Amino acid sequence: MLKVVHSVSQETKCFSIATVVLLCVFYTRMTSEKKSDIPVPDSAYPYIGHLLSLGSLPSETISKWHEKYGPIIKMYMGAQTWLSVDDPILAHKIFVTHGVETSYRPHSTYAYYYYSAQGKGIGFSQPGAGWKEVRSAVVSVMAPRQIERYTDMIQQQGQNLITQLEAITEKEGAVNPLKHLELYSLNVIFSACFGRAFRSVQDPEFITLIQLINKSLEFAGLQNDLPNFLPALSFMDRLTGIQGKMKNFITQQVNPAVKRFIQEAKKSDKPNIVNSLKENGYTFSEEEMNVLMFDLIGGGTDTIAVTLSWNIAIMCNYPQVQKQVTAEIDKFMEENGRLPQFKERAQMPYSISVIKECMRFKPTTSFGIPHAVKKDVIVDGYTIPKDATVISNMESMHKNTSMYSDPDIFKPERFLNHTKTMQAAANGKLEERDHFVFGWGRRVCPAIHMAEVEVFSAFIRIFAHCFVEPSSDGMPDIDHAQNIGINLLPRPYKVRLVKRMTGMAPV
Ligand code: HEM
Repeated sequence: MLKVVHSVSQETKCFSIATVVLLCVFYTRMTSEKKSDIPVPDSAYPYIGHLLSLGSLPSETISKWHEKYGPIIKMYMGAQTWLSVDDPILAHKIFVTHGVETSYRPHSTYAYYYYSAQGKGIGFSQPGAGWKEVRSAVVSVMAPRQIERYTDMIQQQGQNLITQLEAITEKEGAVNPLKHLELYSLNVIFSACFGRAFRSVQDPEFITLIQLINKSLEFAGLQNDLPNFLPALSFMDRLTGIQGKMKNFITQQVNPAVKRFIQEAKKSDKPNIVNSLKENGYTFSEEEMNVLMFDLIGGGTDTIAVTLSWNIAIMCNYPQVQKQVTAEIDKFMEENGRLPQFKERAQMPYSISVIKECMRFKPTTSFGIPHAVKKDVIVDGYTIPKDATVISNMESMHKNTSMYSDPDIFKPERFLNHTKTMQAAANGKLEERDHFVFGWGRRVCPAIHMAEVEVFSAFIRIFAHCFVEPSSDGMPDIDHAQNIGINLLPRPYKVRLVKRMTGMAPV
């Protein structure tokens, strides 16, 4: 009996051990499978996937999905797989640690065949020898020492901006700053590229160029590339003739204009990027130069205008912050008899913290520029599949509580100890990053220094001269946004730029 009991208990023991082992294996598989199963929001339709579930403001919808499903989600955009990430640590691992595999750009009919003449330029070309050379050329002409050559020009453009905004406020009682910010940003990048600028927002050449940039963004939009997502609709391209329109747009409008600007720049005695590229030993074909120059003009116009537009709208909502900024500017002016330059930013810690906090609070783009994956990579147990498109959801990423305390509160003080330039922070370690507005790794914006100088110069001039106050229409709405291309813009607003009574004329 004892023996039997012993043998039963032995069997039970063996059975129990086997069960535990099996359960462990099962549990491990379940959990590892669970972890590598990237959640898919449950609003997908057959064939079209999530295309119709994104709504009019996809970044808002995707932020809500992240809240519900976690830091990485999978969306089916018709036949394509898209992943969105909103956790900075995970994003860093995907885009930086695995940057070799994840720094490609997704295929787009307009961007590939027409805009970039099959992969030329920098923004839409694929990593390879050509892209590397163009990228290194851009990094060299955008280096801080090169941008020094444009300091006077940037300051002059900042001065013109504030003069226009003040004049319109005086004449019309209030001003919608957007067009003027576009003129400022286009003039800065255009002068840097070609050595000349436009006179006013009525200048026909300025209007034409802004139309070309906007039309290009429109062609690059998903609505003009439906067969790329839904191959069954490929007949639509023939029906609408959209590809013919794209081709004509590039060959008959964009290329002749850019070619003319390049020819003029070659003869100009003003410092300019066309000549700097040659001086730095880069010689590119005419086609490559056309694409690259349009990349720079396109990359440098809306981004800066949108950033400054948020900046003015936010500051109007926070008059106490404006007071602290103006006090810092006044102190610098009393001590130095002039306005600070970007290289003196260490003496303006509060102002640069405000600029950084505005960018965190209202990031310029919804998703950065999408990356594509060349081969499967496994990150934190998640399989990031070959050919997937990966985006960073800027809005919820900048509200991530592991990175930012009280993320819903506008609190410039959070950056007072982050004295690094945004360029250094964006290219440094994850722990040292202030925000992620300039993207990631090998594809990180190559013009961060120029962008910082431009934003600083305009910001300092606006608040050296004025207080920004609401118009009779009310306070600018900073709780909602609208999409323009890849950027997220505040809803249209008007403000009053009211002259400050300072002891000195700010110059
Ligand atoms: C506040 C202003 C700006 C913001 C927020 C911004 C943001 C970005 C972002 C998110 C990317 C994509 C990074 C990635 O793929 O991970 C990017 C790339 C790029 N940006 Fe900027 N940018 C700004 C200003 C500028 C300016 C002034 C220029 C031109 C002078 C410029 C030129 C470019 C170019 C050429 C690329 C493509 C780089 C590549 O694909 O290798 N950006 N920028």
